Amino acid sequence: MNSEKPNVKINLEDLATFCKKKGFVFQAGEIYGGLAGFFDFGPLGVELKNNLKNLYWKEFVQKREDIVGQDGAIITNPKVWKASGHVDTFGDMLLTTKDTKTKLRADHFIEDELNMPGDALGPKEIEDLIVKHNLKYNGEDFELPIQFFSGMLNTQIGADVSKQSKAYLRPETAQSIFPNFKIIAETSRQQLPFGITQIGKAYRNEISPRDFVFRCREFEQIEMEYFYHPESVCEELTQELLDTKLKILTAKAQDDETFEMIETTIGDLHKDESYKLNTFHAYWLAKYYNWLTNEVGLKPENLRVRQHVQTELSHYSNATFDIDFKYPMGFKEMLGMANRGNFDLTQHQQHSKTKMEIFDEKMKSKAIPNVIEPSMGVERFMMAVLYQGYEDDKERGNIVLNLTPKVAPYKVAIFPLVNKAGLPEVAREIFNELIDEDIEVLYDKSGSVGKRYARADEIGIPFCLTIDFETLGQSNEDDSEEVKAEKLANKDSVTIRDRVTGKQTRVEIENISAIIKNLVKGKVDFDLI
Ligand code: GLY
Repeated sequence: MNSEKPNVKINLEDLATFCKKKGFVFQAGEIYGGLAGFFDFGPLGVELKNNLKNLYWKEFVQKREDIVGQDGAIITNPKVWKASGHVDTFGDMLLTTKDTKTKLRADHFIEDELNMPGDALGPKEIEDLIVKHNLKYNGEDFELPIQFFSGMLNTQIGADVSKQSKAYLRPETAQSIFPNFKIIAETSRQQLPFGITQIGKAYRNEISPRDFVFRCREFEQIEMEYFYHPESVCEELTQELLDTKLKILTAKAQDDETFEMIETTIGDLHKDESYKLNTFHAYWLAKYYNWLTNEVGLKPENLRVRQHVQTELSHYSNATFDIDFKYPMGFKEMLGMANRGNFDLTQHQQHSKTKMEIFDEKMKSKAIPNVIEPSMGVERFMMAVLYQGYEDDKERGNIVLNLTPKVAPYKVAIFPLVNKAGLPEVAREIFNELIDEDIEVLYDKSGSVGKRYARADEIGIPFCLTIDFETLGQSNEDDSEEVKAEKLANKDSVTIRDRVTGKQTRVEIENISAIIKNLVKGKVDFDLI
């Protein structure tokens, strides 16, 4: 009812098995049975995550003059979390059964039992639903009223146990940006509007981690705070961005329980004041949506925008829109974009007694800025890319992971046809040159070329290079003179194969790195090389 279930090509368990088998990601401490909500990323996982993070950093930091980065501490002064409201309000509603005292996350329980979104519900609404539908767990009633369960993970600091002080592992990276806002504005000479972003780990004491890497206790976030004068408008909101088309699940469709999506544009959402999508919010929603579809390669049919309903808004938010991805378990949040107003800076000003006002040159006035916050979970992002790319190709007889070349852990695989007769030496030379050019390469020397193609397909390598005897200009004794001449003409060239189409052609060794770079950037079509 709440979310259109996708035609699931691979369920979550099988996706997790595939990811483990190929070395993308597996449980932390796997040999001891793992630890719920914690994962380790293997050789391919770390490359894939790095590529996603680097693509983000290039687009939103390096290409722009108005956004700078930071790398805040995971543990900071606990007063930060008191001021932000996390210590008192950050957590979930907990249901406890009367007899066995089993603990369940209330919103998830309602989602599973009644097939409706649980995160939009307040404690009173959940209690009413439990009474109305006489909901039980394994035949047991629940203790009411519902309890609050803090999502903060605590730790103790200091060697002397009697004097240890309590601290928190950060539940979001965002919060370490706000206290630094003035220092960073001054040191990087930023004027409003401008943004500060960071990528890093965050920790939440999830009651029930689930859905593979979707809901973990340790995870990584890509977050940005974009600060602007409350009375200013975003001058970069172009007509092209306003024309961005998308599907939205509105708060009304959720309140009315129709859950029907509508096709609209960012411009129409912005014009309709009931959405409270101001120019900066509209700008960032359009920017991220276009980046995800055009650069990262997520398909629009796998994305939807969902407006948060009133009861679900976080304690700091005036309006929030998620970009959801169609995972095996249905549409779920991959990215949240909140209008945090000036809640956080005001709180930090009050609690720290440090002025958070800043002078806006264009507006000619001082103000505590408002903030738009795009926030993305790296694991969720990675899971979206992997799930979309996964294809069981019956014709080829192997899995093909259709990752866009920019995201793929390796861009090229190099195969010496045989492990002798001078071929490995040429293959190594090409390998070294590509590495020098910052192109990620996998060297694979074992098995038939067909098997090596299949292995490359399964881990999403877009291009394969085979070094054969023609690369050395050699031919067979019984080849005709014509064939011999052809093979000689192929000296110093290798076969390149495209994963998507399976097409093959030959390229000169001296041109390989330029060709691969252009193919990866999408600047040239495989058919035209
Ligand atoms: N900063 C928003 C979040 O962590 O969900």
